Amino acid sequence: MTDKEEAKKIKGAVEEEAKISDLPGIGVAAVAKLESAGIFDLMGVATLSPPVLSELTGIGEAVCRKAIQASRKMLNLGFMDAFEYGKKREDINYIPTGSKNIDNLLGGKGVESKAITEVFGAFGSGKTQLALSLAVNVQLPKEKGGPSGKAVYIDTEGTFRPERVKQFAEGMGANPEKVLKNIFVARAFNSDHQILLVEKIGEMIKNGEPIKLVIIDSLTAHFRAEYAGRGQLADRQQRLNKYLHDLMKLAEQRNLAVFVTNQVMANPAMMFGDPTTAIGGNIVGHASTYRMYLRRGKKDTRVAKLIDSPNLPDNETVFMVTTDGLKDVILKGED
Ligand code: GTP
Ligand code: MG
Repeated sequence: MTDKEEAKKIKGAVEEEAKISDLPGIGVAAVAKLESAGIFDLMGVATLSPPVLSELTGIGEAVCRKAIQASRKMLNLGFMDAFEYGKKREDINYIPTGSKNIDNLLGGKGVESKAITEVFGAFGSGKTQLALSLAVNVQLPKEKGGPSGKAVYIDTEGTFRPERVKQFAEGMGANPEKVLKNIFVARAFNSDHQILLVEKIGEMIKNGEPIKLVIIDSLTAHFRAEYAGRGQLADRQQRLNKYLHDLMKLAEQRNLAVFVTNQVMANPAMMFGDPTTAIGGNIVGHASTYRMYLRRGKKDTRVAKLIDSPNLPDNETVFMVTTDGLKDVILKGED
């Protein structure tokens, strides 16, 4: 292809929705190689270096270099002005949690797309209940504050309960069977499997599934179990870091919300307050856009606290887990 032809091809591709098959040098066979390496779109190409892309796919390095350069042009990667940035944020959608108190804690409308929301807390603190509630509420239509989408639930601990989803659905007057059909559940047996499942989501979306929420319950359990030794900590953190970046990329490209649960460990260095720390430490903390800490409160209440949010105050609120779903607790003075 001449340079002119190539430029024309790139321009045409930008105007429509560019696909990897629009890249120079990428024919049917190369598309198949890219796809079997888990690369389905331009962003997947644009973010790699020529030797890495070549190694992953078996496509020659020179071809890879050209394809990467073209994909970067097509995607217009680089700086954008604040106006454009604002426009990019306009299409963000929200998923109500079921508790207005928690929605308010998160800025008013619930869990946000193009972001990772992490919830951490001790066992029984309500992490899975919150995740299940979101898997139902993501299906709410726009008029009811939802994005009218489907959910993917990656279950690493075998705690996904369809019966519980049914109760939540009934609690909001929805058809339980329909609600269950809009939740894709996969049990992840180890961290490799957990990573692979996320790669599959891009494929599902490409096949037309309107996935607006990806839940990983729990994000860290397998990593923690597999990298138990002290000497393995750096490896674990590195893999976790890459995984979180892949999740963020998915969230941004597909305009969907990622919701992850995380366990806590006792922190012996802490003498006052609640002596627990999230697993994965700073890596998970920095990669998450919103972090929420859950703990049991007085009577049957739960307390949710927002931690280190870039644009929201570190507030606390109270809610309850009931058979029908999450409910708000109205705080009355000192009881
Ligand atoms: P781990 O996964 O063990 O770390 O805990 P988690 O934070 O995911 O806990 P989960 O969300 O599963 O919370 C379990 C708690 O939710 C139970 O102890 C109950 O208090 C509450 N719960 C679960 N199901 C029901 C229900 O059907 N009715 C009511 N009222 N409460 C429920
Ligand atoms: Mg759980």
